[in-house]
Amino acid sequence: MRSKLVAGNWKMHGGIAQNRVLLDLIVTGTTGLRGADCAVCVPYPYLPQVQSLLQPTHIFWGAQNVSQHEKGAYTGEVSAAMLADFACRYVIVGHSERRALYAEDSHTVALKFRATQTAGLTPILCVGETLEQREAAVTEQVIAEQLDAVIELLGVSALAKSVLAYEPVWAIGTGKTATPQQAQDVHAFIRNRIAAHDIKVATELQVLYGGSVKANNAAELFAMPDIDGGLIGGASLVADEFITICRAAQS
Ligand code: PGA
Repeated sequence: MRSKLVAGNWKMHGGIAQNRVLLDLIVTGTTGLRGADCAVCVPYPYLPQVQSLLQPTHIFWGAQNVSQHEKGAYTGEVSAAMLADFACRYVIVGHSERRALYAEDSHTVALKFRATQTAGLTPILCVGETLEQREAAVTEQVIAEQLDAVIELLGVSALAKSVLAYEPVWAIGTGKTATPQQAQDVHAFIRNRIAAHDIKVATELQVLYGGSVKANNAAELFAMPDIDGGLIGGASLVADEFITICRAAQS
């Protein structure tokens, strides 16, 4: 049985004072959760704060991006080893906002995936189609290309120490959630594609759904057989919402 994971993606939100309040509430509200892990992926400058507040708790933390390079003259970039210094467990790679706004292609994302694992951290690899692509009925091709870039570079076994997140771009921050069946269909496609290489890896891999997951729709999404939790944007900034979503992931 796969356990579930609910990971918050704070994006470019937060502040020292408000983080403290939010994290205190989340820690208290998710104490005693069964069969589900919780994590928050925060902006880089808050990693020391999050580390010190969450170290003694059951909540994991991570970053939202990483350089594909190990070190060197890359002004403004942050390496995976630096994230390891702050005991990050997760790094989101290939979020659609990175792909669209910062021109990250699937090969670059695969390099970031590799850099993350090399530092001993777990990548959360995001894949997903735009509305245009869904309407043109190329969803599966798009996701296959995003997934295959990692498999080609690193082999399918690399996926064993990772988490996937299916995030339809048209559902991110729009309030438009994929229906549980729409999400399940793509999750099953992802799992089958990986199973064609390695059944064990496919069976054990956590595949999260992301895109306007809220307190009022999380349970029906998480009830689908191939959905193993969520990657949560907007609702991860509201303590009650996030806590309810984490509770919906309990076994
Ligand atoms: P959202 O964002 O929950 O605000 O739609 C999800 C994400 O971008 O990871």
